[in-house]
Amino acid sequence: MAILVTGGAGFIGSNFVLEWLAQSSESVVVLDKLTYAGNPDNLSSVQNDARFKLVQGDIGDRTLVSDLLTKHGIRAVLNFAAESHVDRSIHAPGEFIQTNVVGTFELLEAVRAYWGALEGDARQAFRFLHVSTDEVYGSLGDNDPAFTEQHRYEPNSPYSASKAASDHLVRAYHHTYGLPVLTTNCSNNYGPFHFPEKLIPLMILNALNGKALPVYGDGRNVRDWLYVTDHCSAIRRVLESGLLGETYNIGGWNEKTNLEVVHTLCDILDDLSPRSDAKSYREQMQFVKDRPGHDRRYAIDASKVERELGWRPAETFDSGIRKTVRWYLDHPQWVQGVVSGAYRDWVKTQYGQ
Ligand code: NAD
Ligand code: DAU
Repeated sequence: MAILVTGGAGFIGSNFVLEWLAQSSESVVVLDKLTYAGNPDNLSSVQNDARFKLVQGDIGDRTLVSDLLTKHGIRAVLNFAAESHVDRSIHAPGEFIQTNVVGTFELLEAVRAYWGALEGDARQAFRFLHVSTDEVYGSLGDNDPAFTEQHRYEPNSPYSASKAASDHLVRAYHHTYGLPVLTTNCSNNYGPFHFPEKLIPLMILNALNGKALPVYGDGRNVRDWLYVTDHCSAIRRVLESGLLGETYNIGGWNEKTNLEVVHTLCDILDDLSPRSDAKSYREQMQFVKDRPGHDRRYAIDASKVERELGWRPAETFDSGIRKTVRWYLDHPQWVQGVVSGAYRDWVKTQYGQ
């Protein structure tokens, strides 16, 4: 028996795999296309573990997925694979439709055929867990209550629209075919192995490299931050005990404006790795053109997963963000590895530097 983790070489998927192997004796097969965001280095600490296998491939390759399911006697599929960066979805939405919508459809078809042929306990126990985002709910006003699972879908970017479409497909496969699915909708993650195109790692690395810290618009957009290993523990909990066909909102009860996040990062860096001129990293902050269609506020009401499954985050924002900065300071080789030519091209496209 084993689990199949798609997108397991990305930021959240790799954290999930490392934690899984540390806490369970069950094997993990990772299926990852290894796009610019997929990095086998994230999994180097388990590459010699006999319970771990990394297969490079596409979730849209139905034949490959079918072979993996059968060959490894997969008892659960966890679908992390996606194009995940909002800004990239604005520049080039096609890949988002291909992987997040068509890829999820092909994956579901392979899983439906495999599950349909299972019998007895194996059929009973099988699960398909789809990892999704709070962005499918759209944007909140300053005083609106946080998103519950009942909030209507109002995706605003090509990324969130493609994730919403994938959520609907997963839901439909449960409703129509009885596929045993679970869906999680999580807020913004941060922590180790976060690709430096996203706010927190980008700010840490730009600060250390003496570059501008580009804050979109007025910097008052709000995100609800969750340390990545808390997201992983929530997914394990939902996989173990979630009710089939249900969706669970996962969040850290940590709403922050982008300005608060960037100020906090600068203050921690001033403490842990001060600038040679003794000035604050805050001096490097620059307000830049806003993201088109930029969602103003996300906030997750995570009371259902707490009430029904007894899950709560272990980290506060203060503890998690300090650990994160330390991790980037302590892993210069990992950073060097990801800051490749492709990454530099993206920075040029987005920020014109
Ligand atoms: P990521 O971009 O870091 O990783 C995505 C991984 O998927 C990469 O390893 C990539 O190579 C792989 N991949 C892409 N296309 C593929 C394909 N066609 N077939 C197989 N593999 C493919 O993303 P992440 O931040 O780790 O997010 C993982 C999942 O969690 C995504 O579904 C995302 O929508 C969701 N999510 C992310 C956050 C967040 O804050 N990062 C929050 C909530 C939900
Ligand atoms: O809410 C969950 C989502 O969080 C996930 O579904 C996405 O996969 C993940 O990328 C993340 O989306 P965001 O768009 O919220 O994350 P990002 O790190 O790109 O941006 C966070 C905020 O910071 C957002 O308001 C935009 C702003 N920002 C971002 C960058 C990269 C800046 O001000 N400057 C920047 O350079």
